[in-house]
Amino acid sequence: MSGSGEPAVVFESVTKRFGDRKVLDDVSFAVETGEALCILGRSGTGKSVTLKLMIGLLKPEKGAVKIRGQNIVDLDEDGLSKVRRQIGFLFQSAALFDSFSLNDNLELPLARMTKKSKEEIDSIIQATLDDVGLGKDRHKMPAELSGGMRKRAGLARALALDPCILLADEPNSGLDRVTSSEIDDLLLGLKEKGKTTIVIVTHDVRGARRVGDRMAVLEKGRLLAIGKAEELENHENELVRALVSEKD
Ligand SMILES: Nc1ncnc2c1ncn2[C@@H]1O[C@H](COP(=O)(O)OP(=O)(O)OP(=O)(O)O)[C@@H](O)[C@H]1O
Ligand SMILES: [Mg+2]
Repeated sequence: MSGSGEPAVVFESVTKRFGDRKVLDDVSFAVETGEALCILGRSGTGKSVTLKLMIGLLKPEKGAVKIRGQNIVDLDEDGLSKVRRQIGFLFQSAALFDSFSLNDNLELPLARMTKKSKEEIDSIIQATLDDVGLGKDRHKMPAELSGGMRKRAGLARALALDPCILLADEPNSGLDRVTSSEIDDLLLGLKEKGKTTIVIVTHDVRGARRVGDRMAVLEKGRLLAIGKAEELENHENELVRALVSEKD
């Protein structure tokens, strides 16, 4: 275990390229333990890439990515899977295993990564699905779920292992406002329990302001700003001001 006071996630001068395209350019920031950071920015600015770097799905050309103090950049698959056990990841596409029921999508990681009994696993699955409003859909196949339900199912799967770090790529996209705000309630609840560090990529400013302690703005692979909503509202950069302001 890392010592207290250590940030949960640190980017140190991270540069990521695809071919000769620089997608992240010398990005540095830290997410404190128990904090919720929302990453905002236009489409294609490197937000999803940033999250994928945090679980070692992508590797940077330069810089360090530290999870609870450990630089994960040069870890082998064994080392990475230990790190990933502490992290819940909701992909932008809410990637579910299409040939498995919702129940099995949650059961699989729980059975593989924990030593919990069948009964414990059963009750965790039900409780987690209840939390995201899918308690009655437990035995459905992903194809039977709507887009918003798939999103919530993906979130349930990320939460089932009770991760200390939750990374969520657009958890609200494609959801109606009511469901979207229920997801925000859930994320807020996690944060208020005080131990989950949350990094959310979102286009939903309203939710970001509710759930996030701070916001980060990416633009063309650079970190334009990071800070509290009230600070960024008065930022010198117009794009930052526009992205963090609530508009109806
Ligand atoms: N595996 C990859 N191979 C090549 N290019 C990639 C890969 N992943 C991402 N990119 C490129 O990196 C850039 C940033 O992509 P990213 O998915 O991080 O954008 P984003 O900020 O999440 O956008 P959106 O809001 O649309 O989801 C894009 O130009 C994308 O085409
Ligand atoms: Mg994305």
